[in-house]
Amino acid sequence: MMHKKTIRDVDVKGKRVLVRVDFNVPLDKTTFAVKDDTRIKEALPTIKYLMEHGAKTILVSHLGRPKGKDQNLKMDNVAKKLEELLGKPVMKLDDTVGDAVKGAVAKMKEGDVCLLENVRFYPEEEKNDPEFSKKLAELADLYVNDAFGTAHRAHSSTAGVAQFLPAVAGFLIEKEVTVMGKALSNPEKPFIAVLGGAKVSDKIGVIENLLPKVNAILIGGAMAFTFLKAKGYTVGKSLVEDDKLGVATEIMKKAEEKGVKLHLPVDVVVADKPDDTATVVKTVKVGEIPADLVGVDIGPETAKIFSGVIVNAKTVIWNGPMGVFEAKKFREGTRAIAEALSKVKGTTIVGGGDSASAIQKLGFGDKVSHISTGGGASLEFLEGRELPGIAVLQNK
Ligand code: 3PG
Repeated sequence: MMHKKTIRDVDVKGKRVLVRVDFNVPLDKTTFAVKDDTRIKEALPTIKYLMEHGAKTILVSHLGRPKGKDQNLKMDNVAKKLEELLGKPVMKLDDTVGDAVKGAVAKMKEGDVCLLENVRFYPEEEKNDPEFSKKLAELADLYVNDAFGTAHRAHSSTAGVAQFLPAVAGFLIEKEVTVMGKALSNPEKPFIAVLGGAKVSDKIGVIENLLPKVNAILIGGAMAFTFLKAKGYTVGKSLVEDDKLGVATEIMKKAEEKGVKLHLPVDVVVADKPDDTATVVKTVKVGEIPADLVGVDIGPETAKIFSGVIVNAKTVIWNGPMGVFEAKKFREGTRAIAEALSKVKGTTIVGGGDSASAIQKLGFGDKVSHISTGGGASLEFLEGRELPGIAVLQNK
């Protein structure tokens, strides 16, 4: 259970409710239409609840990383997509704060929804500028944070505004915190962490937080090569963080002390190039990586071992693909892991932007318990850190 108040705990009828959502969605590179509406869909339960309970819902989000006002990053296409998903009109406003916005909000009726302009068009947002936070707060009677994906940012719309308004959580934040929080505090065992992705440095905090809790850690992705090199293997042209070899050794030592089995690949797919233009592609044992090739995926033997560990688990957290899954040639390892997760009789949590999109793309998205909408936010959550956008919300 989450210890923060949610919209269920407060009276929203007739109130102007400012809801921070994470509508930072992938856009088509040429038309700037919404390419993946997952984050919008995940915000619908909160929006619908507020509409049905007579609130005047004022949505605010960032989109991309604009430097000042960027026409391509206006919220218009997001508003269109939301309207489509909601089946109700959404009033898109052309500014984020100020008199014109106040005027438009004043005309809203109970059950109405509006979407403000990209909050990052104001540089004050990311500075968590108190004056700007106050301007946002002036639009509403209540603040709701439902932007789990941005909860690791202490910005005006994610944190600062809570100094000026009563602040509670929406249902998406409640869901993310409840599911991932239970896995961290009271997991059903065996509890397994599957970690991949490019860099060890991105995952050190997660490994350190999970080591005392898990039964085993499976490491794939390019980050595995730093561990393999630390163990004395030659890894050819594979990506290695040479400044993290000591950290990798330290992690392996800690795992051993705690009796946590840390699995590394026993075989890998290597290629002359890490994309689909590769002409040389082969599978080798980890002791036999050719000097001129780069590791691009876990091999079939590793996939089999990892899958065997995963299917017998009761709780699995997966963060980071096993190889260069964007390339058709190198997604087999990641596919095998996604499939193994789909067979687990227990809680399966996919955190992080890349693994989330991988499991969707590979068609196993609806076979896991939870796919986090957070990239950086879910990593920080799994590191055991309190996210600033959640810290500011009222306790129960
Ligand atoms: C994300 O996509 O991780 C969040 O929306 C946060 O975006 P940011 O990294 O630009 O702050």
